[in-house]
Amino acid sequence: MEMKQPAGHNALDDNRQGLVGRPLDRVDGVPKVTGRAPYAYEVRAPARPAYGYLVEASIAKGRVAGVDTSAAERAPGVVLVWTHRNAPKQAPFGPMNLEDRFARAKPQLNDDRVQYYGEPVAFVVAESFEQARAAAQLVRVTYAPERGDYELQKNLAQAQKPKPSNGREPDSASGDFDAAFAAAPVQVDARYTTPVHIHAQMEPHASTAWWEGDRVVVNCSSQLLESAQKCVANTLQIPNEKVRILSRYIGGGFGGKLPIYGDAILAALASRQLNRPVKTALTRQQMFHLTTHRSDTVQRLRLGATRDGVLTAFGHEAWSHTARFDDFYESAAMVGRSLYAAPNRMTKNRVAHLDLPVSDSCRAPGEAVGMPALECAMDELAVQLGMDPIALRLRNEPKQDPEKHIPFSSRQLVACMHEGAKRFGWDLRHTQPGQQREGRWLVGMGMAAASRGNFLRPSKCKVHIDGNGMLTAKMSMTDIGTGSYTVFTQVAAEMLGLPPAQVSMQLGDSDFPETAGSGGSFGAASAGSALYDACDKLRTKLAQSAGIDPAQARFADGKITGCGKTATLATLAGASGIEADGEIQPGDMMKKYSQQAYGAFFAEVAVDTESGEVRVRRMLGVFAAGRILNAKTARSQAIGGMIWGVGETLHEEAVLDARHGCFANHDLAEYHVPAHADIPALDAYYLPEVDDKTNPLKIKGVGELGISGAGAAIANAIYNACGVRVRDFPITLDKVL
Ligand code: MOS
Repeated sequence: MEMKQPAGHNALDDNRQGLVGRPLDRVDGVPKVTGRAPYAYEVRAPARPAYGYLVEASIAKGRVAGVDTSAAERAPGVVLVWTHRNAPKQAPFGPMNLEDRFARAKPQLNDDRVQYYGEPVAFVVAESFEQARAAAQLVRVTYAPERGDYELQKNLAQAQKPKPSNGREPDSASGDFDAAFAAAPVQVDARYTTPVHIHAQMEPHASTAWWEGDRVVVNCSSQLLESAQKCVANTLQIPNEKVRILSRYIGGGFGGKLPIYGDAILAALASRQLNRPVKTALTRQQMFHLTTHRSDTVQRLRLGATRDGVLTAFGHEAWSHTARFDDFYESAAMVGRSLYAAPNRMTKNRVAHLDLPVSDSCRAPGEAVGMPALECAMDELAVQLGMDPIALRLRNEPKQDPEKHIPFSSRQLVACMHEGAKRFGWDLRHTQPGQQREGRWLVGMGMAAASRGNFLRPSKCKVHIDGNGMLTAKMSMTDIGTGSYTVFTQVAAEMLGLPPAQVSMQLGDSDFPETAGSGGSFGAASAGSALYDACDKLRTKLAQSAGIDPAQARFADGKITGCGKTATLATLAGASGIEADGEIQPGDMMKKYSQQAYGAFFAEVAVDTESGEVRVRRMLGVFAAGRILNAKTARSQAIGGMIWGVGETLHEEAVLDARHGCFANHDLAEYHVPAHADIPALDAYYLPEVDDKTNPLKIKGVGELGISGAGAAIANAIYNACGVRVRDFPITLDKVL
């Protein structure tokens, strides 16, 4: 089906079993916690595997001048050592104009150039992981280093206007921003910075590859199976259908598994050469350079307002970096385009090409760092105006999208702020800093809006019901830990009137019907809508075979009833079963309606006036994100995002060593993330919402909403507590003092 018009009344609205929305436990929970869910590195190979280990470049830019692999080759258990001198020839990187950047060829060890610190320069395969790792230490590499550019803040002048991505222009303008800002009686002109963020998924990237004849099977940890399939095929210069990607269980994605990396390519190549399976995992330390990261950003916010708080000028500019040879950029200055009304507007995104590892999507690219800057600037404006921060936002609530001039599909930002204020006790907040002292501690409250774009992408699904009344659904969709298996089980079970145990949800195989995969919070909507369509078509087929008008058919308890007839689905399916294919095409509803999920964050912090230490005491998020498919998994996504918001505000920072072009703190001992003791009483609620303009499920993405602004609530609470405004994230104690 195509999303050409608002979705009509449908089976999910009826929700006769009440399965949709129910806080069902994860269907993959027990296999995961009992070790029966194999992740990519644990998959049982069809023969005894060999183990690969990557050797990383220890310079950021230059050439490999010499390599001596003789000691590594003589080391115990070693079966193969590759460098650029003897690795198989692969396609050159790119092409850059491929619509799907994750499908580009990604050759490994193809030449002597080093383009970033940590780029693979050698690959060792041995009988065991330990032997491969030990031999890798014996590979001697000498370099001819070159001077590189590594610092965004020193390279702002060379930053360029990037190409449009996903149809979105990097710049926007309406009215006369400069004149309106200059004339505004109240002005905020503030510069914010955010540091490099590392995904650091719980499961490091890993691959287990083998060949079945001329077809390679790559088990890897990938959010997007079709992209991974094309990437392997393009790199190895073989047809797509000669590549099968399997990714049944994934220990976290966050955008860092949108691409695949050298572990997958080299495991595939080495298993062909050795004629046996090859496993390759990145170490935790290797992930910091060899995979992608979120660029640091510099952002300038200019807000002009009347004395009663009406925005007259809205300006947001953002700079980020990308690898010398790449074109991704962090679209931080896009988030405000749909958020607040203002007649004169200007947004600009600029990107500097540096000799750093590849930057790419990291949880809520754009919003995760753009919203904190914007929402802190709004707080600064509220302070200048002497206005309550919620009242300021209410005053600038737009009636329609302020830049696209189209209606919102649904927008409950105001309701989220009101509900959050009530639940959090916002009325107890002191308007001036320094008013609430508890011994050494100053206490304050802050809030921020949440906003994240909502998307729908083409996807397909196949469903089949058998003579036991068991429904099987197949999609190439992935579950990166978000709960895809579970929410799709609920949708399918509800639509066919089956208990969840009668549904087998099969994901994570590129042989299954093509989907958009997991990314950008579009996974549940896109794959879920294809599943919806397949189940809808299966209902029609079942009704027809029962001799029931499909419009009259009711599905419950494994039976179909209507027109005075009843039959069990198992009987109708019979020995051969019945199958149906479903499909979603986005249509033009994303062009007709401005689609975002919304929310409001509230935080209470205490600041130690002697040490500058910040403790987050309470945190609340109230969201509106369309229909909620599973109250538990949706809440988990929200609080996970908010916890990341705590980390983003107080802890996380990859520290650049500007002498060597590398990140100095490349492990979880030194790249700080919140520990349990850092996380306060924290809760999340979703307001009732059903959005019939988005997709047939009437849902919006929830994955990234919880981080999109969370950090600003904490930063604003710090200001409210002690009167210190820190504009450089993370807000560490040295900056507060
Ligand atoms: Mo999304 S950047 O794939 O979390």
